[in-house]
Amino acid sequence: MTTLQAPITIRNISFKNRIVMVPMVTFSFHGDNGSYYGNQHIEHYTERAKGGAGLIIVQATDIFGASTLTKMWSPDNMETLTKIASNVHAYGAVAMMQLAIYNEMDINLLTITQIHAIQSEMKQAAINACNMGFNGVEYHFVHGYTLCKFLDASLNRRSDEFGGNAKNRANILTEILPDIRENTHSSFIVSVRMGEYQPDSRNGIEVAQLFEKAGIDMLNISYAMEPPVNPVPDKFECSPITYSGCKIKKEVNIPVIAVNEIRTEKQVRFLIDNKYVDFVGIGRGMLTDAAFANHVLQHEPVNKCFGCKKCLWFSDHTKCPARKK
Ligand SMILES: Cc1cc2nc3c(=O)[nH]c(=O)nc-3n(C[C@H](O)[C@H](O)[C@H](O)COP(=O)(O)O)c2cc1C
Repeated sequence: MTTLQAPITIRNISFKNRIVMVPMVTFSFHGDNGSYYGNQHIEHYTERAKGGAGLIIVQATDIFGASTLTKMWSPDNMETLTKIASNVHAYGAVAMMQLAIYNEMDINLLTITQIHAIQSEMKQAAINACNMGFNGVEYHFVHGYTLCKFLDASLNRRSDEFGGNAKNRANILTEILPDIRENTHSSFIVSVRMGEYQPDSRNGIEVAQLFEKAGIDMLNISYAMEPPVNPVPDKFECSPITYSGCKIKKEVNIPVIAVNEIRTEKQVRFLIDNKYVDFVGIGRGMLTDAAFANHVLQHEPVNKCFGCKKCLWFSDHTKCPARKK
């Protein structure tokens, strides 16, 4: 057994390997009969589970509508999501959903009532995910979106319990965590995707440690408001964003996923064999090669992402030039 398949268990859930498909919105896909999710999504995620990923984190789903079973939580969408979870499980992978706020909001202008309404949807979305058979959820606190701004010490200027010190800035999630635990089964994983710089490393590490202390089970480290550009140490064969994940890993005792431009078997093994992180997150590499994980595990060549970014922003990743026809 290689270190890539070394056993790891989170809240009773065992992962068959350390390769994660990170969340990616499938911009060109649509549901069936007007729904958001549909057969294209089922096929997409099933293929990646079949391709050997140990964990599949389904793309960002907006939390709004979770309580009323509307929008992305309509019965049709939930039927599709339920099917995705069960297909992913059929291939032995762990299935999680990413939960996000799509809308840009000025977090400093939100009333307490509005924040409580957000928290209520965040909580209900996790409960729905659990009821649909997912093993856990990941809250999207990254890439400059609304939840991300709560964590940032320079952007969050609130003077109530949702602003100020790091504990307060994380409250939007940590406050509702006991409620989520009470309404989901004991092995349900609650994870956070966040960045190291909030806006500086010290603040990011403090928030990561607070999440751990509050009972968050794992962290997926991407970037917060802006991608870091700090140079990485000599011989570190990955990007500054990936390095951020490795830095956070040293500061917490819960499992950490590092991500970004991890494109080769060599990079995957470098990160895991040297224990820089617990999991490697693969984004575009999973679009170019649905069997990325199996190829790496079996020392076979992968269809390497060219980094052209044509898959981003409402484009069609199925036209990716690196995909084998
Ligand atoms: C098409 C596309 C959609 C994405 N959608 C999401 C998303 O829903 N949630 C998220 O946190 N990150 C999203 N990302 C960022 C990826 O999860 C990942 O962090 C990024 O692509 C870097 O990893 P990579 O170099 O392996 O692709 C998206 C990226 C791409 C390319």
